[in-house]
Amino acid sequence: MPSLVRAELAFIPSFVEAMREGFSRDNLRTVSAGEIAQVEREPEWFVRQVNHPPRQVVLPDGTLGARVPSTELWYMDGETFLGSVGVRHELNDILASWGGHIGYAVRPSAQRKGHATAMLASGLDFVRANLPLDRVMLTVSLANEGSIKVIEKNGGVIEAEVDNPWIEGDRGRRYWIALR
Ligand SMILES: CC(C)(COP(=O)(O)OP(=O)(O)OC[C@H]1O[C@@H](n2cnc3c(N)ncnc32)[C@H](O)[C@@H]1OP(=O)(O)O)[C@@H](O)C(=O)NCCC(=O)NCCS
Repeated sequence: MPSLVRAELAFIPSFVEAMREGFSRDNLRTVSAGEIAQVEREPEWFVRQVNHPPRQVVLPDGTLGARVPSTELWYMDGETFLGSVGVRHELNDILASWGGHIGYAVRPSAQRKGHATAMLASGLDFVRANLPLDRVMLTVSLANEGSIKVIEKNGGVIEAEVDNPWIEGDRGRRYWIALR
């Protein structure tokens, strides 16, 4: 059974394969051929960066913002990379409006097999066990039917329908999932 674990060097070949399929850890950005080449060239640096993220984050509009403390976990079936979950330990004003505590993605070839639903459930277990949060917020575009199902199957309750501040004309929902 797959499990959520920290990134390791041994997982990089499968992770690179996933990126070549079109997988991106960042739901608002695609991965360029240059970025894939950099991961292949400097896998140690990349794994270190995943497990110890820099203090600043490039926002979707290209500007730099402060990164809140976060943990990235990879959903692995042995050494086969299936997807990733990003857990933010707290919200800032930007994340409280759009982004929330948890983001996730499944590689294209592994989609529609229940992995995101199981992966989010494991991500929620991680939060319960490691963070002092009673509930977590997630946001999703109305067009993302799959992710809406994933959130609702994990107990998500709609707080509000809101504009996606990063994508002109995109509407979405803020959901909360109670943890305790
Ligand atoms: C959204 C995403 C995470 C779903 O991953 P997944 O592993 O395919 O999801 P699951 O297999 O757990 O599917 C959950 C449900 O959604 C449905 N579903 C999945 N993808 C779907 C799609 N593209 N369109 C319609 N329904 C979809 C599944 O059929 C399943 O429905 P069911 O429970 O009624 O059978 C995946 O498509 C993805 O990584 N997309 C890109 C990144 C992204 O959007 N992340 C979420 C941002 S909020």
